[in-house]
Amino acid sequence: MGGEAVQTDITTEHIERLITAAGSHGVTGAIKELGVARTGSIVIDELVFRCEPPRNRHAVPVRIDLVHGTEKAVHVLRLADGEPVTSSEEAPEDACVRLEFDLAELVTLVYGVPRERSAGVHRSELLLAAWPRLTAAYGISDHELMGSVQRAVDSVLGGLSHRRPSLNELAVRYGSDKWSVIHWFTPHYDRHLRDLRNEPVRVLEIGIGGYAEADSGGESLQMWKRYFPRGLVLGVDIVEKHGLDAARLRTVRGDQSDRAFLASIAEQHGPFDVIIDDGSHVNEHVLATFDALFPHLRSGGFYVVEDLWTAYCPGFGGDDENLDNPGTSLGLLKGIIDRIHHEERDGADPDHVARNTVGLHVYHNIAFIQKGVNAEGRIPAWIPRSSDEINPR
Ligand SMILES: C[S@@+](CC[C@H](N)C(=O)[O-])C[C@H]1O[C@@H](n2cnc3c(N)ncnc32)[C@H](O)[C@@H]1O
Repeated sequence: MGGEAVQTDITTEHIERLITAAGSHGVTGAIKELGVARTGSIVIDELVFRCEPPRNRHAVPVRIDLVHGTEKAVHVLRLADGEPVTSSEEAPEDACVRLEFDLAELVTLVYGVPRERSAGVHRSELLLAAWPRLTAAYGISDHELMGSVQRAVDSVLGGLSHRRPSLNELAVRYGSDKWSVIHWFTPHYDRHLRDLRNEPVRVLEIGIGGYAEADSGGESLQMWKRYFPRGLVLGVDIVEKHGLDAARLRTVRGDQSDRAFLASIAEQHGPFDVIIDDGSHVNEHVLATFDALFPHLRSGGFYVVEDLWTAYCPGFGGDDENLDNPGTSLGLLKGIIDRIHHEERDGADPDHVARNTVGLHVYHNIAFIQKGVNAEGRIPAWIPRSSDEINPR
């Protein structure tokens, strides 16, 4: 999974332009602005990322032709079991199968709202002139090569299917520990985030993973990128992780305890639909980050705090004696229950969190704070405030 980096003249704004256009029938205009070559490179990069893990034993070059009026862009994907899918614009004559797409239709398929299509989306052709070289190189028969070609094409088209992998599958595919063995978070994430899956969301995750190692980590960021096919994913870590940058996935170095830094990323990259705190897990940082970033969460979005166990660990600034300590992550969550009910309390002075939190979902070690307008109105004055006045004895 994961392919080559996008062309250097491709920006996040270009990709956002295609995502927006694909959601509003404006693809032809966007291709005109960006050009066929650039649009083709963007969509091929996404296709490479989305390919299902190859299961073909022998490496297969698959030629992809992108047609737009009289113009054409040609790319060659290389797929082999256990290896990352790569793409290049070199040696199309080496490919042993060709898939042709209308560029505008492919952009819509990749970046539009996923939906089932009964009609075909591509033309295909076996390029038999290349077969003798491959069968000789691998020492296999045409029939055996056919099996590998079939699987390679299936991986490519699988990436375009409206049937998308589950979040559990994606956690395993990209190596995120959010599912099984240590954490059991992904079913909770899916329950709350699945309604946003087709939206052009902005996801911010604090804590990229890999700790001091610059090029390691990013497993959950890849998982989010695949889970939200139209989303932009931003990762923040105290360690520089720019080596992980890719289309729809950016990393920024910074300390989550630094409020000025958090304000700057919110201004540059927000507002966000999903914010996940999986960083230092130091309780003071969790509180400061929530305070700084919750105002930059969109209505309808979720603020997620992972690893609540540190609320009980003095080594993380937690408290194993006073369970109501407001300085811990769990203390913050317990206080949010009262903030949600500010309209029912005389003299309550609701802050932004109180006025804009509509739900709190707490599971073992993870919490989801749901943003929305919290102004349903107080229970009317004519309803008695004492049970003695309504309940028969
Ligand atoms: C548990 S890992 C994140 C794992 C990742 N979210 C995943 O699910 O694959 C925690 C990360 O937080 C980073 N970190 C630690 N302290 C931080 C801080 N003060 N600000 C930002 N990141 C921090 C660490 O470098 C580490 O990479």
